[in-house]
Amino acid sequence: MEGVKRGTVYGPLTMAVVMMCAVVVMVPGVSATRWTVGANMGWTTNVNYTIWAQDKHFYNGDWLFFVYDRNQMNVLEVNKTDYETCNSDHPLHNWTTGAGRDVIPLNVTRHYYIISGKGFCYGGMKLAIRVENLPPPPTSTPLNEKSSSPSLTSRSKIVLPMVFAIGAVWDAFLRFRY
Ligand SMILES: *[C@@H]1O[C@H](CO)[C@@H](O)[C@H](O)[C@H]1NC(C)=O
Ligand SMILES: *[C@@H]1O[C@H](CO)[C@@H](O)[C@H](O)[C@H]1NC(C)=O
Ligand SMILES: *[C@@H]1O[C@H](CO)[C@@H](O)[C@H](O)[C@H]1NC(C)=O
Ligand SMILES: *[C@@H]1O[C@H](CO)[C@@H](O)[C@H](O)[C@H]1NC(C)=O
Repeated sequence: MEGVKRGTVYGPLTMAVVMMCAVVVMVPGVSATRWTVGANMGWTTNVNYTIWAQDKHFYNGDWLFFVYDRNQMNVLEVNKTDYETCNSDHPLHNWTTGAGRDVIPLNVTRHYYIISGKGFCYGGMKLAIRVENLPPPPTSTPLNEKSSSPSLTSRSKIVLPMVFAIGAVWDAFLRFRY
């Protein structure tokens, strides 16, 4: 009994702690996006997922989130050929968990082809995306400058003493003259 009570008390607390940690972890990670496929329409019929995806950039580290009627549709990853022909006989990956809420981690830079089986692909329930590498964060610009800065400093190490040396010689020359 005590254990059950503790579970119900600490459950939300643990969730809050986990979520706070997730926020802390995600803030420096900048831009991992969880894409709800089809936006507020979800994963269903009568949505053109080519149009949904066309103005979006999917980056390595993002997720696809499928929300759908678990009694009807499913989420299958297939190859390009099977995407084009709506063949769900040999999926590369069955992402269907049974809850009608499935997540695909886009953790490889490549094309992903996802269809719904059970005949829905033929009606347009298919999604093809290309996952790109995350563009370099702003901090990479100073990093690049840093890599070129040693040559700058080493050059100024040579140039500056030379300027001083020439100046000193010139100064001495002038003093000598006047
Ligand atoms: C996709 O898989 C099918 C069946 O395994 C195969 O015949 C086809 O050549 C594959 N297509 C690609 C592009 O890999
Ligand atoms: C995909 O996996 C789900 C859950 O394990 C299972 O119910 C379903 O039959 C599988 N579908 C295919 C096409 O393999
Ligand atoms: C990508 O995620 C899948 C599913 O979580 C996992 O099986 C796979 O090992 C991951 N691949 C890489 C390269 O991290
Ligand atoms: C979705 O829209 C694209 C671009 O307008 C079009 O080429 C394609 O045929 C449409 N797909 C479906 C299933 O209607």
